[in-house]
Amino acid sequence: MRAITHDRYGDPGRVLSLSEQPAPAAPEAGQVRVRVLSRPIHPGDLAGVEGFSDGPRQRFATPRIPGVEGMGVIETVGKGVRDLRPGQRVAFFPVQGAWGEAVTAPAGLVVPVPEAVSDETAALMLVNPLTLLILLRAVEDARHGQSGAVVQTAAGSSVGKLVSAAALRQGIPLVNLVRGTTGAQSLRQRFPGLATISTADADWRAQVRDATGGRGAQVVLDAVGGSLTGELAGLLADGGTLIAYGQLGSGSTSLESLALTSRVLTVRGVSILRWMSRTPEERAEDIAFAARLAVSAPELFEVAARYDLADFADAVGHVRRPGKSGTVLLTGPAS
Ligand SMILES: NC(=O)c1ccc[n+]([C@@H]2O[C@H](COP(=O)([O-])OP(=O)(O)OC[C@H]3O[C@@H](n4cnc5c(N)ncnc54)[C@H](OP(=O)(O)O)[C@@H]3O)[C@@H](O)[C@H]2O)c1
Repeated sequence: MRAITHDRYGDPGRVLSLSEQPAPAAPEAGQVRVRVLSRPIHPGDLAGVEGFSDGPRQRFATPRIPGVEGMGVIETVGKGVRDLRPGQRVAFFPVQGAWGEAVTAPAGLVVPVPEAVSDETAALMLVNPLTLLILLRAVEDARHGQSGAVVQTAAGSSVGKLVSAAALRQGIPLVNLVRGTTGAQSLRQRFPGLATISTADADWRAQVRDATGGRGAQVVLDAVGGSLTGELAGLLADGGTLIAYGQLGSGSTSLESLALTSRVLTVRGVSILRWMSRTPEERAEDIAFAARLAVSAPELFEVAARYDLADFADAVGHVRRPGKSGTVLLTGPAS
């Protein structure tokens, strides 16, 4: 089968290559083999190829096939698998090797795709909605019943739009931050009920204070990190919480320990890597939520572009293109 691999860590544009690889092993008991038709490139996938150079190094053995999410069709099922059958359309997460043309996975990590959900939406059905749930739980914990404002960075991202839609559904007073004027305009059109501020404006900090009623944010959801994080801590109300969940930005983060103590601020990280530690029942509920969202709001699963596996270099370049809207998919083989 064709697969994208890397045998060392570094710039994805330099270390990734496409090659013929042995097909994954036939499924053992409790496993299925899936012909993968479509898979996203998440920012976290690229960070994994780089080797998380700016943070804790969570390196995996190389050579490896990246990618943990995708959709496809079941080819064969192993002994004891009752609920899945060959020919069925499925999504999967977390299954290492999604950037190859086939994966063998535990049946428990493979989810039937509802008939009303397109292949493209199915390829995006799990990671981002599950991230949304993790973020909403962290926000709820941090707000402990109060009604203060929530500010989120990189609000134009795929996850950010899910957060915006959820905030409108749940009546959370959300203030969106984006890095550019054009992005701010398009997000205001998309979510006219939410304040959207561009950090390119010289007075963006004052705008955030106004939008939070002069009190500051009770919670900041930050996907940018780097040098922005210290500034965001300064925009928290006393007792507020900064939730870090991504590192799209650059630079190092400086936090004033005196401000953290005297203003009783909390800084915490959240990661989908911990999602597997939820109970099987909790995970089943989360997956049911994701499938319902894919059926009821497919517009929240926007595809920026699709590229055949052979064109992975262009696809990777597209992921980091400023102003991109939606998620880039790698496709193939043809369904
Ligand atoms: N912790 C977890 O478990 C977890 C799980 C899933 C995702 N995430 C994180 O969630 C974030 C969003 O992921 P996604 O897939 O939704 O992203 P995405 O759709 O690829 O969108 C990326 C967005 O980030 C903005 N951006 C890029 N670099 C930036 C910078 N230096 N400063 C400010 N904004 C910047 C872009 O804005 P422009 O429009 O201006 O280009 C774009 O709106 C990422 O940080 C990702 O790692 C974390």
